[in-house]
Amino acid sequence: MPQAKLIDGHALAATIRAKTANDVAQLRREHSITPGLAVVLVGDNQASQVYVRNKITKVTQAGMHSFQHILDASVSEHDVVQLVSRLNDDPLINGILVQLPLPPHIDPAAVTAKIQPEKDVDGFHVINVGKLSVGRDGMVPCTPMGCMALLKNHLDNFSGFRALIVGRSNIVGKPLSVLLLRENCTVTIAHSRTRNLSDECRQADILVVAVGQPRLIKGDWIKEGATVIDVGVNRIEAEAGRSKLVGDVDFDSALNRAGAITPVPGGVGPMTVACLLRNTLEATLAQSNIKLSGSS
Ligand code: GUN
Repeated sequence: MPQAKLIDGHALAATIRAKTANDVAQLRREHSITPGLAVVLVGDNQASQVYVRNKITKVTQAGMHSFQHILDASVSEHDVVQLVSRLNDDPLINGILVQLPLPPHIDPAAVTAKIQPEKDVDGFHVINVGKLSVGRDGMVPCTPMGCMALLKNHLDNFSGFRALIVGRSNIVGKPLSVLLLRENCTVTIAHSRTRNLSDECRQADILVVAVGQPRLIKGDWIKEGATVIDVGVNRIEAEAGRSKLVGDVDFDSALNRAGAITPVPGGVGPMTVACLLRNTLEATLAQSNIKLSGSS
């Protein structure tokens, strides 16, 4: 079996960001509107700090305004909800993102429920979850949207393919199952109670893994020629006291079995951020009832 093709998330994400930056410039030229994204970070989770910094940088590079709200881990749920209410009412803010996870004393569902669905660029509000599940236009969560863009870029048509998603989170697994179903895949979701995970994996033409367990999926679990999307980002110890990032798939052994695979880093991660930019622009357009000419 030849080595798997690498699915380059950096390249596709750069294309999406460039297109978004063009559209943002057109929106400003023709309508004097600049999209604004508010990002709320609670506490000092190091991975979240890195993700938020990266999101802010890319939003700014695309010509949008960003507004950062960094709150102490001890902040009350009430205060976070109050902040979200203020952001809902602020006309300069088109999108609101509350970075997850939140500290244990804050219920993420309570906070998400307060975000105005039109500004919910994460697509986590139950209104947007419901719209997605019945096939109506709404905000689609960024990571599943990025996974789909990678799959569509790599595969011409995957109607009828067997897709296995490992992980049943609200952020990735569940919404992705809806998106794959919409493309006529036969979708299975595996999780921590699934029996014979390796056998389930071996059936999958498309395998998406989002569980946060370093190198859980071994190469010999993968069907020959399958397309593998690795959503996991795990920091593990490496040589000489250093650390490195690995995915949920054992990349080296998977290379000998998969037809194509996303690397970690450089696969899904950049796509999540690119899709956030896209959602922020789309939210702005929808709120002003604008359709850009020449835009698809
Ligand atoms: N934490 C991990 N992924 C995400 C995401 O896509 N959005 C938010 N808000 N938090 C996250």
